[in-house]
Amino acid sequence: MSSPSSPSHIPSVFVPAYAKVNLTLAVLGRRADGYHQLASVMQTVALHDTLRLAPLAQGDAVSSTYTPPIAFACDLPELGAATDNLAVRAAQVMQGEALAMGGDAARRARQGLLLELRKQTPTQAGLGGGSSDAACVLAALNALWGLGLGAARLEALAATLGSDTPFFVGGGTALIGGRGEVVTPLPDAEPLWLILLKPRVGVSTAAIFRALTPADYGDEADTQAVVAAIQARRPLPFDRLTNTLEPVTLRAYPAVAAARERLLAAGAPTVRMSGSGPTLYAPFRSLDEATAVHRRLRADIEGDSSEDGACDAWLCYTRSREQCARALPTQPWSA
Ligand code: C5P
Repeated sequence: MSSPSSPSHIPSVFVPAYAKVNLTLAVLGRRADGYHQLASVMQTVALHDTLRLAPLAQGDAVSSTYTPPIAFACDLPELGAATDNLAVRAAQVMQGEALAMGGDAARRARQGLLLELRKQTPTQAGLGGGSSDAACVLAALNALWGLGLGAARLEALAATLGSDTPFFVGGGTALIGGRGEVVTPLPDAEPLWLILLKPRVGVSTAAIFRALTPADYGDEADTQAVVAAIQARRPLPFDRLTNTLEPVTLRAYPAVAAARERLLAAGAPTVRMSGSGPTLYAPFRSLDEATAVHRRLRADIEGDSSEDGACDAWLCYTRSREQCARALPTQPWSA
């Protein structure tokens, strides 16, 4: 059996799937459907996974449970099972759309899909990695198979895959409402350097929402203040970056509280948690300042050999909506 490959005359497409941070995250209350009502400002960042998409070569023998076949590979063995990977589920959703549409879209989809995923965004980290992978598959196949679906339809399809998946269809800076699926694009927030610090614990979003009590609920005031600054093209008010889930995760995971202290001790003036955590971020306007804090942080992490102290740190930056859009394919495969 030959390994799956793509026809030599059709180039593979490599697409970055950018991670996000929550500049604000307010949990307003519990809803009748069991989800929580959110108000959040989300921002894409440069840390990303990479997807490779290509049509399958004719005659490729692929063991796939899908029709048309999807040959999936991931560099993280624990994510290699195609059946429950969100990127594969996104490809299946688009197959359904393409086959229902008929014509060229269905013909392209019937060729089968080679889908490779190089993970760099940590999983269960509060950075939306899996959601971004899924949304990028939707957006990329929309172009590559020539489906011509609009952003609203792609966001509706994305919402079937996860609460924060619709945001990643467009990325950039956006106000998020509902259970996470209501996306209102905002002007780009000011560009920032970001230090990301992730203690080596995985946090289940569902478990953090379950641990939330009504006493933890927040209001929309900080989110509105941040939105107002963004709309007026003013600098972000760092003192209004807040996250309702942060105290909950800090209570449940002492390693996250310790990592927060570590980032503050390294000199970060503002430290916030992204999503349900455990990743923390510190925003900076100056690279000099970010570099100095990053250097002290790395020295501290490297000098700590305890298992509880294990952390990963990145010096990263924000990614605008236009930069996200430019990374996506725009034309259908010619085959
Ligand atoms: O929608 P998603 O699968 O990403 O959410 C994971 C879990 O987080 C949900 O099953 C739910 O328990 C919780 N959640 C919530 N309110 C939200 C989003 C997620 O309670 N707005």
